[in-house]
Amino acid sequence: MTEMFRDKVDVALTVNGEPVEARVPAGQHMIDFLRLDLGLTGAHASCEHGVCGACTIRVDGVSVRGCLMLAAQADGAEVWTVEGLTDTAAITDLQDAFVARNALQCGFCTPGMLVAAEELLSAGGTPSRAEIREHLSGNYCRCTGYEAIVDAVESVAKARAGKGDA
Ligand code: FES
Ligand code: FES
Repeated sequence: MTEMFRDKVDVALTVNGEPVEARVPAGQHMIDFLRLDLGLTGAHASCEHGVCGACTIRVDGVSVRGCLMLAAQADGAEVWTVEGLTDTAAITDLQDAFVARNALQCGFCTPGMLVAAEELLSAGGTPSRAEIREHLSGNYCRCTGYEAIVDAVESVAKARAGKGDA
């Protein structure tokens, strides 16, 4: 084990609105801190090098790859995971639309998709299908295909803008 992994760092942050204080290995990735230390297993660790988006979480208002961020970097941050966004009902309409449009099969990519989609929708306006595709282009889905996912996000975008039903 290298020095980097042995050294510990104190962090104080909020996770899903709750204060969290911890002493973390300097080299621990945020996704592992959330999953292994806090038991928040919604965000997944898959490629673990920033490609697939399965580990997407929200940090200080923007989508972040949990596998590319160190837990030590989260000191002072406001972190939201799919669990917190679910509990606050921030993504209930997105989740309902994913189900209604069959926008998931195995569901492995879904937490990351939802967090990324919410980032886009919370920016306001009504994104086009092209903009939705572009925004979700860093989130891979291996089994559903992207058409239904874009359908779901588009329907929620229109519903939030008062232009249709999700
Ligand atoms: S696990 Fe982080 S991008 Fe794939
Ligand atoms: S639903 Fe299976 S990877 Fe997307």
